[in-house]
Amino acid sequence: MITAKTIAEVRQAVAAARKQGQVIGLVPTMGALHEGHMSLVDAARRQCGFVGVSIFVNPTQFGPDEDLSKYPRPLENDLALCQAHGVDLVFVPEVKEMYSCGGTGFQPVPKGTGYKPVPPQKVAEMYPPGSLTRIHVDRLTEGLCGASRPGHFDGVCTVVAKLFNIFQPDAAYFGQKDYQQAAVIRRMTADLDLPLRIEVCPTVRENDALAMSSRNAYLGREERQQAAALSESLRLAADLVGQGRRAAQELKAAMREHLARRAPLGRIEYIEIVDPDRLTPLQEVEAPAVAALAVKFPSARLIDNMTLRP
Ligand code: PAF
Repeated sequence: MITAKTIAEVRQAVAAARKQGQVIGLVPTMGALHEGHMSLVDAARRQCGFVGVSIFVNPTQFGPDEDLSKYPRPLENDLALCQAHGVDLVFVPEVKEMYSCGGTGFQPVPKGTGYKPVPPQKVAEMYPPGSLTRIHVDRLTEGLCGASRPGHFDGVCTVVAKLFNIFQPDAAYFGQKDYQQAAVIRRMTADLDLPLRIEVCPTVRENDALAMSSRNAYLGREERQQAAALSESLRLAADLVGQGRRAAQELKAAMREHLARRAPLGRIEYIEIVDPDRLTPLQEVEAPAVAALAVKFPSARLIDNMTLRP
């Protein structure tokens, strides 16, 4: 397994794999890998000859009061997991590699063209530090998590587009737990004609059905017990829909009531029932819809979602 710190190293390894006719798969992550991430790696492994994983805690998707500095970074453990799951290359860039105008992977111009590229140091002098470009997907980013995390999805889209450009994968793998993120990335990929397939894999859950997340590690004992209420309330909504209930207000009220009773330490940030593609709130569940919620515990903000099928 290659551990690459620079964009240039990734490009070289991917080019070599492609030369051998391999299909390239990418699993973008922020590390603190768990079974959810590894299910994405396993899916990539089944479908691709070359599997890359990126581990980068992307500062541009964290708000000023969010957990960037305390986000877990157990790199040795992450690398061991990647190795055990047959990953070919792990990309672990530093922030300056990703956000300083082409990093150290600034591409040389082919020999013999007579053209002299501006060296990377010069580029860094010419422009302010950090990058000046952001990718913004409209509408899909307005509700749900986007409402309370302004700029979050711009940060996600920008770094994911950069990773797509660095790896040029045939397929990239994301988890359904981050439903809105997957929808936004799918849309960005289509809108920008990026030549790859987006695969969204099912949420992996703990024994009590809590969705796996790197942030679960922050939870204290009591919070952890109460956190199971997120998936319970989603299950409740799915069961009510199964029994013929259709009104979103009624379903949301039942979820709210369950959470208030079962997870008093959690503050509900949102509970929504949305169109699965547009992510717009629905009044009635007449066709498959998505129930999504975010709950803030004192130590962590958790999200989850479930498809409701009438
Ligand atoms: O889902 C995540 O871990 C991150 O948002 C992603 C897609 C790796 C971008 O930083």
